[in-house]
Amino acid sequence: MLIDAALLADARQRIEAARHILVLTGAGISAESGVPTFRDALTGLWARFDPEELATEEAFRRQPQLVWDWYEHRRELVAAVQPNPGHVAVARLAALRQVTLVTQNVDGLHQRAGSSDVIELHGNLFANKWLDGCGRCEAAPDDGGRPPRCVHCGALMRPGVVWFGEELPRVARYRAEHAAEQCDLCLVVGTSGMVYPAAALPGVARDNGAGVIVINPQPSALDATADLVLQAPAGQCLPMLLPVGAASA
Ligand code: OAD
Repeated sequence: MLIDAALLADARQRIEAARHILVLTGAGISAESGVPTFRDALTGLWARFDPEELATEEAFRRQPQLVWDWYEHRRELVAAVQPNPGHVAVARLAALRQVTLVTQNVDGLHQRAGSSDVIELHGNLFANKWLDGCGRCEAAPDDGGRPPRCVHCGALMRPGVVWFGEELPRVARYRAEHAAEQCDLCLVVGTSGMVYPAAALPGVARDNGAGVIVINPQPSALDATADLVLQAPAGQCLPMLLPVGAASA
């Protein structure tokens, strides 16, 4: 995709000059790795499933095996793909600037690309927890039952992601909001900006005087908050934005 050279230069200059960058990522940054986004009409995860069917506590209580198997499918999909140059560029940026990386993604690809201290607002696909656990839950030996149950109390293991209607992890939310207040540049990458409170962070940054850059090949709900919109795929665009000295391995 052809990227507007003047906009690219402007974005690069803003990144070069920034002191503290909040990078907020969504499913779009993993699209070029082959992970479906959520809301794409044809390939998005929700295009084939009703989110209320699968991504709520009620759904899990009603049909634990169906929901567990769907997350198992996503785990397998993510385990089979690799981070792309967009993830790698974000990790490299952190070596040159103060970066707070906040992601709505649960795929762990930022960490696999070398980013440490990733603030995961929506949890992680690979971190399971217990539903109504007894406090000393232990998985029963694998008897083929899905999801696993606690050997002591029979509680069900559930995916460690945030479902619709659930609170965000408190510390992650606090740290993300604090960074939005403190940063001087907010880089918004690959999110439709439809899901709150994550979608509110660029506005908080802007209200506190930060510049906002959106990277997304499609229009998004956050374009109106941005000083600059780069209509481009993240894996192509982000490596071009790195300050001098960071582009090579
Ligand atoms: P969405 O699927 O809503 O949006 C993905 C965005 O990525 C869209 O705006 C696409 O245009 C854009 N996109 C696609 N390919 C891209 C590329 N190569 N480079 C950059 N951008 C690209 O995903 P999110 O905004 O992440 O929450 O969705 C937010 C939350 O909604 C998810 O975390 C999930 C879902 O409900 C939970 O599961 C709690």
